Amino acid sequence: MSTTEAVVLVGGKGTRLRPLTISAPKPMLPTAGLPFLTHLLARIKAAGIDRVVLGTSFKAEVFEEHFGDGSELGLEIAYVVEDEPLGTGGGIRNVADALTADTIMVFNGDVLGGTDLRHVLDTHEKNSADVTMHLVRVADPRAFGCVMTDENGRVEQFLEKTQDPPTDQINAGTYVFQREVIDEIPAGVPVSVEREVFPKLIADERRVFAHVDSAYWRDMGTPEDFVRGSADLVRGIAPSPALPEAKGESLVHEGAGIGAGAVLIGGTVVGRGAEIGAGARLDGAVVFDGAKIEAGAVVERSIVGFGARIGPRALVRDGVIGDGADIGARCELLRGARVWPGVEIPDGGIRYSTDM
Ligand code: GTP
Repeated sequence: MSTTEAVVLVGGKGTRLRPLTISAPKPMLPTAGLPFLTHLLARIKAAGIDRVVLGTSFKAEVFEEHFGDGSELGLEIAYVVEDEPLGTGGGIRNVADALTADTIMVFNGDVLGGTDLRHVLDTHEKNSADVTMHLVRVADPRAFGCVMTDENGRVEQFLEKTQDPPTDQINAGTYVFQREVIDEIPAGVPVSVEREVFPKLIADERRVFAHVDSAYWRDMGTPEDFVRGSADLVRGIAPSPALPEAKGESLVHEGAGIGAGAVLIGGTVVGRGAEIGAGARLDGAVVFDGAKIEAGAVVERSIVGFGARIGPRALVRDGVIGDGADIGARCELLRGARVWPGVEIPDGGIRYSTDM
């Protein structure tokens, strides 16, 4: 068997996760206490792949500063920067010169998954495929690109999001490429792997196959999914070789202070040096390092950025609080509210109800 290398695309701007992605690229956001990418790199390593090329662009320098040569993870990591983001296909093409293997496993850098990657590689080899796509079956495929396959697992059609999907198989954002297929992607121009590369390969009747399963899978691209994925890691619903086996309702990091009677449930994460006040209630909360949740505050299914403060008896539900923001006492922030970094909201300054 030829050797396999991995490419991870991490160059996107992560606009759907703003304002968190103003200060950190999406794959570096802390997830169960580790940069999200660490979980994916640990899975790649667990599959026996030792060399990874990161295709960076937005905030490119942050990745190398953190992961260096990869030796701490037992990997060899190389970096290739796009001055201008070239899209998913362009990003794959742009790393071609840094590749040395014949078989390349390509990952979107924001996917949390439970599939054994060796099985995907086995499917690729068994079919002598040019490209193998990992597909997952999901309960509601409407929000995703669907992929039709024939009885042999060969990919027939790639469909955009539709309200009436003909299949529950969706593109999981992990692919295996034969090296020469990567070289065929036009160089130096923006290309979408989903909208251009795959439809062309299918039209040209190349050997494009699918590996289909129903393993854990989540694209961490939106606040809702980020919160769910983080909680799933804490509770052990989502596997990660980077985390210890012990799982529970919450994960509290070193230097954090938890006040009397505070309740931490639903896969809540409390970052390093964060402070949780007495009687606060955190349900599925992601509290980044150095943030402060004051006494009696309630934080549900929300992300609280680095050093942000939630005032006494405030309520944050399904919200994103930017780094260093200051939410006054008794404020209510609900239903997708996003507070930009450093913004101060006075006590009682935003309410959804009239009782104070
Ligand atoms: P949104 O702006 O919220 O859609 O996020 P995104 O920019 O990350 O885009 P998307 O979620 O579609 O990207 C999927 C994966 O591909 C992510 O891991 C991105 O970092 C990566 N990616 C997206 N665009 C590019 C690009 O132009 N170059 C590189 N190298 N990676 C990209």
